[in-house]
Amino acid sequence: MNISPFIQGLPKAELHLHIEGSFEPDLMFEIARRNGISLPYDTVEALRAAYDFSNLQDFLDIYYQGMQVLVTREDFRDLTAAYLDRVAAQNVRHVEIFFDPQGHTSRGIEFATVIDGIRDALEQGEREHGISFRLIMCFLRHLDEADAFDTLEAALPFRDHIAAVGLDSSETGHPPSKFARVFAKARELGFPAVAHAGEEGPPEYVVEALDQLQVRRIDHGNRALEDPALTARLAALGMPLTVCPLSNLKLCVVDDLENHPLPAMLDAGLVVTLNSDDPAFFGGYINENYQAMSDHAGVDDAALAEIARQSFRASFLDAPRRDALIAEVDAWARKCGVGQ
Ligand code: ADE
Ligand code: ZN
Repeated sequence: MNISPFIQGLPKAELHLHIEGSFEPDLMFEIARRNGISLPYDTVEALRAAYDFSNLQDFLDIYYQGMQVLVTREDFRDLTAAYLDRVAAQNVRHVEIFFDPQGHTSRGIEFATVIDGIRDALEQGEREHGISFRLIMCFLRHLDEADAFDTLEAALPFRDHIAAVGLDSSETGHPPSKFARVFAKARELGFPAVAHAGEEGPPEYVVEALDQLQVRRIDHGNRALEDPALTARLAALGMPLTVCPLSNLKLCVVDDLENHPLPAMLDAGLVVTLNSDDPAFFGGYINENYQAMSDHAGVDDAALAEIARQSFRASFLDAPRRDALIAEVDAWARKCGVGQ
């Protein structure tokens, strides 16, 4: 995909990125080899050929399988460093990264190994690329409440390094209400919340994320549009949605990028950001997601600039850096002759 000079130069924040979803096949094979673990695919090409999904669960089965080769602190560092190198080249200035500790602790990997390795790379990325960061710990919603409580407890020694808690994995049949008590405890401990909702699940799950988890952002949120009252409520709240178009296409949440709901979201006055979700599996990083909406959904450069501003406004950044990055978007748009 050709990326326009405007999108390439646009300063952006990525707010919806699963670090395990940035695991490119060649790095997966390299790390598997050095850990003496075999993958159920002989070649990088055979693995890539398996990335043909009919729904979220199809993808998650392969996603959880791939992450099993991550064992050491260096593995988590290398995974995260590879992502940061990619997005530095796309002019991403701030990242808020999801990680799935239960995908690792369930295999006997220490919580510290995971978070220390990710943080090694994030700190290096900030030094070398000037990319600021926050970490968001997700609970796997297909597991039970007790497992989530255990994970929250395991995170406590690292609480200063975790900006927020999130909720991901198989949505259907696992409503936000299942984790209301976990999120209440997390709130008591000072963690703000975000949650995946309305990706495959119904609009009621978005309502539950608002009312029962008291989220600060909704991850995806596509199906909220089916409920006009909910849509109006999200708009009135200025509740950010972290939208991921190429993910939606690959997981059959939309049948065609031409039919992506982003323009309808903008028309409804929703606060929207653009993100890549699991870029190694879905065929593009953040710039490809911006470009896809420009090419296929008629979103013009002025709207893309506003989406980039919203990505900083919707972040957990402190006000001075947030405002400085928004001013960079303004300067870039002005330089390119792109109006408000
Ligand atoms: N985990 C990684 N990617 C996800 C997605 N798109 N939805 C739910 N859980 C996920
Ligand atoms: Zn996601």
